[in-house]
Amino acid sequence: MQLNPYSGAYLSDPAATWRRILDDPGRALYAEDLGLWLISRHADVRRALADATTFGNALTLVPVYQVCPRAMSIVTQIDAPPTTAAADPPVHPRTRRALRATFANTADRAEAEYGEIVRRRVDDLVSRLVAQQGRRVDLVSAFTTELPLLVILDILGVPDGDVEEIRRWADGQVALVWGQPDPDEQVRLAQGLLDFWRYCQDLVRQRLDSGADGTDFISRALAYRDDDDDVLTVPEVASLAFNLLVAGHETTAGLLAHALDAALSSPRRWRALVDDPRSVPDFVTETLRFAPAIDGWLRVTRRDVTLGEVTIPAGARCLLMIGAANRDPSVFDRPDRFDPHRTDAGDHLSFGHGPHFCIGAALARLEADVALTRLAAAIPGLSLSSDHRRSFAPNVSFRAHHSLVATIDVRMPADVPEATPATAQAA
Ligand code: HEM
Repeated sequence: MQLNPYSGAYLSDPAATWRRILDDPGRALYAEDLGLWLISRHADVRRALADATTFGNALTLVPVYQVCPRAMSIVTQIDAPPTTAAADPPVHPRTRRALRATFANTADRAEAEYGEIVRRRVDDLVSRLVAQQGRRVDLVSAFTTELPLLVILDILGVPDGDVEEIRRWADGQVALVWGQPDPDEQVRLAQGLLDFWRYCQDLVRQRLDSGADGTDFISRALAYRDDDDDVLTVPEVASLAFNLLVAGHETTAGLLAHALDAALSSPRRWRALVDDPRSVPDFVTETLRFAPAIDGWLRVTRRDVTLGEVTIPAGARCLLMIGAANRDPSVFDRPDRFDPHRTDAGDHLSFGHGPHFCIGAALARLEADVALTRLAAAIPGLSLSSDHRRSFAPNVSFRAHHSLVATIDVRMPADVPEATPATAQAA
C-alpha cells in the first residue's frame, strides 16, 4: 500500500487513514513508498512495544530514507553510544537503570523534584501572555514549544542563553531522522546534529572539571557512575543528555499544542476547564489518546514475525502506528470521538509500553496539567483566532503544529453557557 506522511490527507488529518488501515483484514501492511511495515491494531502495537527480543530499537534513531553521501559523512562522526530509545539488551537495561536512578520518572518523584521548576516556568510564560491582553499570539512559539524546553534545560542545568541553539538542533534532529529533507537540508541538519552532540560532550566535560556535585541531571548521572565504566561510561552520560534534550522537548510541546487545540477549538470544552480545573488531568489523558504527539514509532524485526496471514521478514523496519492503535474500536468505545469523560482513555499507547516505556511520562503530564490549569485560570477568555488553520510539520513520527494563533482575553467570556458533562462531549 501507499502511505505518504509528508503531504496530503494523512498530514492534515490522519484519522481516515488510520481507520482504513485498521479496517484492512491484514494485520501488517507493507508501505512500499516508505519501505516500512505498518502495524496498527492496539494488541499488535502493544505486543511489539513490549517484545524487545523480536522488535529491536537499534534503528529507531536512523533516518527513514536514504541519506545523501555528504550528510552521511557528517552523521558517521556522531559517535554517541546508544543508551535508551536506540538501545537493545544488554545495554538498554543497564542504561535504563541509570536513567531511573537519576531522572524522576513517577508522578510523586516528578512533583517533588520538578514541581517547583515547572510552576515557575509556567507562571513566567503565562504572565507574558497576560501582558499581551487583546492581542493575537501564536501559542506554539510563545508557549507550547517554550515551556518543555526551558524545563528540560533547568533539569539538566543548561544555561538559558543556549536555548535558541538547542531548539534549532533538536528540531533539526526530528526533521533529519523522521522528516523528508532534501540533500542540502540533510547536510545542514546533520552538521547541526554533530554540533549538538559535541555540545553535550562539552557539558559533561565541564561538570567533570568542576567536580560534578550539583543536583542537575548530568551531575547526578556522573555521581551514579562513580567512575565505573561497567555502570555507565562518560560518553553514555553525554548520550543520555543528548537524548533527554530532544525527548523532553519535542514530545511535550506536541502534547501541549494538541491539548490547547482540542480545548480551544470548542469554547465549551475550554469553559469546562476554566470552571472545573479538577477536570484537567482527564482532559490531558484523552488528548494523549486522541492526538498523540508521537503517532508512529519505529522498530526493526530481529527475526521473522507472523501476524495473522502476513510474515514480516527479519531485519525489516516497522512503523508502530500509535495513533491508529489509540483509535482501535476493539479497545475504545466510539474511538474517533474526543471525549474527556471517557473511562477507557488510559489504555492509550502514547508513552509506549513495556521496557522502553517513556521515562518522561510523569514530567510531561505534570507540565500539561500545570500549564492548562494556570492558563485557564489566568486567561479564561483565550480563544483561537477565526482565521486559524491547523497544519503540521511533515514527519513520519512527530505530529507538531506549525502554529496555534489565539487571542488573549483575561476576562471571563459572557456568552458561553456553563458547560455540563453532556455539552462538553462534542466530538
Ligand atoms: C507527551 C510527551 C511525551 C511523549 C508522547 C513521549 C513518547 C514516548 C514514547 C512513545 C516512548 C517509547 C519509545 C520506545 O518504545 O522505543 C518514549 C520513550 C522515552 N521518552 Fe518519552 N515522551 C514524552 C515525553 C518525554 C519527556 C518529557 C522525556 C524526558 C524529559 C522523555 C524521555 C524519554 C526517554 C529517555 C525514552 C526512552 C526510554 C527507553 O528507551 O527506555 N519523554 N517516549
